Amino acid sequence: MTTALVRCADGDHTVELRDRERVAERLIKASARKSYDPEADIDWDAPLDPDLFYLPPETLSLYETPLWDRMSHEERVELSRHELISMLSFGIWSEIMLMKGLLSHVYRGDPTSRHIAYALTETADECRHSTMFGRFIGKTGLRPYPMAWPEFQLGKLAGLIDPPMAMFAAVLLVEEVTDAVQRVTMTDERVQPLVRTISRIHVAEEARHISYAREELKHQVASTPRPLRRIQASGIAGVGFRMAPRLTRPAVYRAVNLDPRIAYRTAKTSPHRQATLRWAFRRATGFLTDIGMIEGPSARIWHHTGMLSTPKTPPPASLTRH
Ligand SMILES: [Fe+2]
Ligand SMILES: [Fe+2]
Repeated sequence: MTTALVRCADGDHTVELRDRERVAERLIKASARKSYDPEADIDWDAPLDPDLFYLPPETLSLYETPLWDRMSHEERVELSRHELISMLSFGIWSEIMLMKGLLSHVYRGDPTSRHIAYALTETADECRHSTMFGRFIGKTGLRPYPMAWPEFQLGKLAGLIDPPMAMFAAVLLVEEVTDAVQRVTMTDERVQPLVRTISRIHVAEEARHISYAREELKHQVASTPRPLRRIQASGIAGVGFRMAPRLTRPAVYRAVNLDPRIAYRTAKTSPHRQATLRWAFRRATGFLTDIGMIEGPSARIWHHTGMLSTPKTPPPASLTRH
């Protein structure tokens, strides 16, 4: 283990660096020990229970709002079904972005190194995840929620120009936020068993991806000159700025017969929703702060997202038990 000093507007950060090859070797071994084949390991014929949720109610965008109070159990379950499909649709899009980025990383790297071998292992994991999410969406009978036009078009460029530091930071952001929601989902008995199984498989494999992204990001931060680091850190803050509001989609409300404008505004101004999103972002923003990626200009953008946890903004009590 070595250490690197990262100079920032908020002071110096000491970042501990592990040997990349050793980290990759450990992750490759762990992947060989515990990986899933969703086609074979999931009982796709198991029926969905009309009474059970698709996500824990506390994670839904309208929970603890006047609109929620007026909804019947069936309507709440239907909202959870659409919010999950929206989340999985976003998951597939971000996994495609990640796979393109990882393959560019492999393209530039040494294929005999364990580090690049792990990037390929992770790409294979993500291929299976997207297949699993797609199959589940198909099973519900719903259609995937498409990405907004700018994201769809920008996504075509992923893997062409993204520097590794920005790529791994974006990956970490998406993986940590998804992981937070899936960890509470996989243990919640109010949720469909099939959704819990999918969440469990994804959490188990993503834990390795998060370790890899964290370690790689520390190396990239330590070796990137400060001006370049600041530009990329601001870009990532911009990703956070666009991502947070897009986790709530008006199209979901239209699909469950709510007025999309009223429901969207209700979610956007809901203290519980804001606290839940901050809770989901907390591990990513905490880590980015620790390694000096939220400072100066990027800190100002992050501040506007409302996603930075502070001692004054505790996470929702209903989610802290996890
Ligand atoms: Fe994944
Ligand atoms: Fe992943």
